[in-house]
Amino acid sequence: MEKIIKAGFIQFAPQFGGADKTIQHLENLFSIITNADIIVLPELANSGYNFNSKAQAFQYSEKIEKSRFVEFLITKAKQLNTNIITGFNERADGEIFNTALLICPEGIKGKYRKMHLFMNEKDFFSKGDLGFPVFDIGICRLGILVCFDYIFSEAWRILGLKGADLVCHPANLITPYAQKVIPSQSIINRFYIITANRIGTENDLTFTGQSIISDPEGDILYQASVNSEEVKILALDVNLARNKMITPRNHVFDDRLPEQYKELGC
Ligand code: ACM
Repeated sequence: MEKIIKAGFIQFAPQFGGADKTIQHLENLFSIITNADIIVLPELANSGYNFNSKAQAFQYSEKIEKSRFVEFLITKAKQLNTNIITGFNERADGEIFNTALLICPEGIKGKYRKMHLFMNEKDFFSKGDLGFPVFDIGICRLGILVCFDYIFSEAWRILGLKGADLVCHPANLITPYAQKVIPSQSIINRFYIITANRIGTENDLTFTGQSIISDPEGDILYQASVNSEEVKILALDVNLARNKMITPRNHVFDDRLPEQYKELGC
């Protein structure tokens, strides 16, 4: 029997250096959505991405409990009776993290902090310290990775082994090939992936859009344009992600041979 959820993304260009314009802009974009269970926004949606120094990255970070951006998204999650996953420049205990928040109608349900830092992020952010959690939101179980985490198969695999039906992937991708990885990770873990990438340019960085939704058989259900704003919500059958059989005799996780993989050193 099908177990349908409505899930998708908003592809747009967050404002650099503060969330006020982003909030106004998202107000319009959310108004297009009438029926969604899960909406994914890009990485660092409250601050922009291309900081020129650690001091600037810190200046544009926010404490979750004092953030107008978070308050706005909680209001939207309530109004639309939906779950929102957003990238967030998080200040906590004098450090900053490249975080993704899971916001439900009741408030903040969880967070993930990006582990694998890309380029200059290494100078600005602390590495994630919350592991790779999977959240049961009732209608499905979801994991979160942030942008460059996509390079590391181990991260996807852990989320698969922990039972994720769907991985939400807020991103600020800039390489031309990143989106190609997404359908293959869907196949080899048999879960859905929603990559919400941003568009636009910040100084020397141009982001590549092409947000993508792939299913457990690696089909690309939708791919957005390179540089237009888009809101896309699709019906996804969770039960397809709960069938882990690749063939009648091959289970995607049970057929693994961990004793043969010791050279990985983990
Ligand atoms: C990235 O991790 N923002 C490329």
